[in-house]
Amino acid sequence: MIAREPPARGDMSPQEFCDAGHRLVDWIADYLSSAERYPVLSRSAPGAVAAALPAAPPAGGTPFDEIFGDFERTIVPGLTHWNSPTFFAYFSISASGPGILADFLSSALNQQAMLWRTSPAATELERVALDWLRQLLGLPASFEGVIYDTASVSTLHALAAAREAALPRVRTDGLLQGGRPARVYASAHAHSSVDKAVILLGLGHRSLVKVPCDTEFRLRPRELAASIEQDLAAGHLPLAVVATAGTTSTTSVDPIADIAAVCERHGLWLHVDAAYGGAAALVPGHEWVLEGAERADSLVVNPHKWLFTPFDLSAFYCRRMDVVRAAFSLVPDYLKTSEPASVRNLMDTGIQLGRRFRALKLWAILRYFGSEGIRARLAEHMRLARLFAAWVDEADEFERLAPVPMSVVCFRWKPAGVSGEAERDRSNAALLERVNATGEVFLSHTVLDGRFVLRLAIGHIRTAEHHVARAWDIVRAEAADLRPA
Ligand SMILES: Cc1ncc(COP(=O)(O)O)c(C=O)c1O
Repeated sequence: MIAREPPARGDMSPQEFCDAGHRLVDWIADYLSSAERYPVLSRSAPGAVAAALPAAPPAGGTPFDEIFGDFERTIVPGLTHWNSPTFFAYFSISASGPGILADFLSSALNQQAMLWRTSPAATELERVALDWLRQLLGLPASFEGVIYDTASVSTLHALAAAREAALPRVRTDGLLQGGRPARVYASAHAHSSVDKAVILLGLGHRSLVKVPCDTEFRLRPRELAASIEQDLAAGHLPLAVVATAGTTSTTSVDPIADIAAVCERHGLWLHVDAAYGGAAALVPGHEWVLEGAERADSLVVNPHKWLFTPFDLSAFYCRRMDVVRAAFSLVPDYLKTSEPASVRNLMDTGIQLGRRFRALKLWAILRYFGSEGIRARLAEHMRLARLFAAWVDEADEFERLAPVPMSVVCFRWKPAGVSGEAERDRSNAALLERVNATGEVFLSHTVLDGRFVLRLAIGHIRTAEHHVARAWDIVRAEAADLRPA
C-alpha cells in the first residue's frame, strides 16, 4: 500500500479510505481469529502507553499508514484483550463480527437521533430492535424500550423516574429540605451502579438500604418487607426497590415475583437490574430468571454483556415511560418540530441529547445469528460453566462457593497445610496473580461472606471447551507450584 500524505483540504480521499479500510478489515479479521496470541491481561506498566506517545499534538498531518503502524506498536501492547476467548474475568463479553461491522457503518453514517427527523431510521430501528429483544426476553408489550450507553445510566434513569413518581415537585423545586428522607432498597449483592445512582440523584448514599441475602446470595423478601415497614414507621419515604437478575459476583437471581408483591403492596417502583442475567432468560429452561419481571416498572439488560454486542449498548425497558418523559423531557425552541405528537423523539427519554446509532448493531446481531443461534451460544456457555464447576467439585484442593445458574463459577483453592481464612485468602490472591501472569487466561475475583474467591466468567462468542479446559489446567498447575512444601 502506498502511504499517502494527508490532503491539504477536505477529508481523506475515497481511494485512501478504501486502501486503509481494507487493511483495517484484514487486521480485524486476523485479530478476531487469533486474539489468543496476545497476553490477555496487558503487560503494560502504568504510564508506559502515555510515555510512548508525543506530549504535544502534531502540527502536520500523518499518513494513515503511519498512524496504523503506531497503533500496532504502541496501542496494542497496552490492550487487555476483552475480545479474547480466554478472557474469563468480570463478565466476559464479546464484540461479534456482525456487531463490529454494524458499528463501523454507524460511525460512517454519523446519525444523531435526538429527534425523529434527525434520523427517522435510527429512531424507528431502535424501537423495532428493542421490541424484538423484548419478545425474546419474554416481557409483555407494555414495556417500551430505549437504548442508553450502560446499565449504570439505565439504572440512574430508572431511579430518577422512581423519584419523579414519588416526588414530582423535585423537577421544579429541587430536593426539598426537611422533607421525608427517601429510601431505596437493593440486596447486599446489588451492583455499585445503584449506589452511584442514589448519590447522583441527591437522595444521599444513606438512602440506600442494603437488604441481607440468603445463603445463595439472593435478596430476602421478608427482610425487605420488614425494612420498608420499619422505615415507614420512622417517617421515611420508600421510593424504589432494585432487584438483580444475575448479580455481579455470583449471578444469583433475586426472587423478583416476591419482591414485586412487596413493591405492589407499598406502591414502590421496582427496577430489575438484569444487565448480565437478562440474556439467560432467552435460553429454554431459564425463563425463570425473569419470572416476575413483567410486574416491574423498569428493567435493564445489556446486550454489550452477554449478547455479543460491541460495547456499548444497554437496553432499558419501562412500563411507565411517561414518567421517564416527565422527568427528562425539555424541548427548547430550537428543537421544536412540526411532526405529529405521535412521533418519538429520543431526546425526551433521557439526559443525553446526542446519541449514537446503537440500534444498528443490535438489529444486525439479532438478524445475523437469529434467536436460535443466540440461544444455542448462550446455552453452550452455560454448559461450559457447569463443566468447569464439575471439575472444581471433583478436585480435592478446590471448592465452589456459589451455585452456577448462568455462566460464572466462583471457586477457591484450599491448599492442604494452609489453615485460617486470612492465609487462604492470601493463597488465593497469590494464585490469581500467577494465573493471570501467564498471559494465557484472565480471571477475576470477588469476596463472598468475607472470603476471597476466584471467579471464572464464560461469555465470549469464540470461547470453546478447550479454552475452558486450558484455564483449569493453568489454575491447577499454578496452584501446584505455589503449594506449601
Ligand atoms: C449486575 C450489574 N449491573 C450493572 C452493571 C453496570 O454495567 P455497565 O458497565 O453497563 O454500567 C454491572 C457491571 O458489570 C453488573 O454486573
